[in-house]
Amino acid sequence: MHLIRPCHPDPVLDDVLPYLRCPVCARSLERPADTDAGSLVCAAGHRFDVARQGYVNLLPGGAKTGTADTPEMLANRAAVQSAGHFGPVADALAAQVAVHLPAEPALVLDVGAGTGYYLANVLDKAPQAVGLALDISKHAARRAARSHPRAGAVVADAWQPLPVHDKCARAVLNVFAPRTAPELARVLHEDGVLAVVVPAPDHLTELARPLGLLRVDDDKAADLRQGLAPSLVPAAEQHVQYVTRMTREDVVAVAGMGPSAWHTDAASLAARAASLPDPTPVTVSVHLMIFRPG
Ligand SMILES: C[S@@+](CC[C@H](N)C(=O)[O-])C[C@H]1O[C@@H](n2cnc3c(N)ncnc32)[C@H](O)[C@@H]1O
Ligand SMILES: [Zn+2]
Repeated sequence: MHLIRPCHPDPVLDDVLPYLRCPVCARSLERPADTDAGSLVCAAGHRFDVARQGYVNLLPGGAKTGTADTPEMLANRAAVQSAGHFGPVADALAAQVAVHLPAEPALVLDVGAGTGYYLANVLDKAPQAVGLALDISKHAARRAARSHPRAGAVVADAWQPLPVHDKCARAVLNVFAPRTAPELARVLHEDGVLAVVVPAPDHLTELARPLGLLRVDDDKAADLRQGLAPSLVPAAEQHVQYVTRMTREDVVAVAGMGPSAWHTDAASLAARAASLPDPTPVTVSVHLMIFRPG
């Protein structure tokens, strides 16, 4: 379905609209008949504005957004991603997911999508699919809405019921981002796949001490398997590990895009990075895990 509405800022939202539901009452969302301006409304009259930048804010009023990435964190993340340092992770993820997508139109939902980088890579390999980026940061949603011609974006909280209908996603992505098992299982189609990326203990290991990065728990993969069972069961697992050469600028951006950015300012990160060789070899090491409904 692709309705042509020339006044509307983002026609992709029309493609993802059938999958969206009201975050307040769970009814379907529609374009209001009374106006061509950007908003979505449910049958109970809950109304949500579509931003000029093409995303829709589906956070109920008063929702807390304290964990949302800031514009600076997103700019750092975008810089590191466009330098290609996470390219092999994106390629592995897209390859694993694309083989499971049907030939007909299908929804790929990215929970905690950030810039939309991983979603866009999947959409590149899945020409029939439409993407929905979900993030609690409006700055992320703004970027993600522009990440691919077939990507729409919503602002929503991954810890709350997702504003998406039951069993409608043929693939759900969750990359370095928050998740709740019951919601991921609810929105996943019975033939769908959930693809999760979590850091391995040696991820960015060369930067941990010099930059004071937060350490990864020892066995995130095991925690993940346990946390998703029994509604989601492991179907495949890949350890993606390689060394990438980062400039000092990239090193500072890597530190500034993650949780360390919350407690260390950019100037101190740059001062710490000055002790590293330029460029610096940095290990990227992640677990890519595919789950199916149990
Ligand atoms: C570490 S970033 C990963 C982003 C993206 N998946 C990537 O790897 O480039 C985590 C993302 O989760 C988002 N986030 C944090 N808390 C969230 C929540 N409660 N609901 C939805 N997104 C959230 C942040 O705004 C951020 O964009
Ligand atoms: Zn409603």
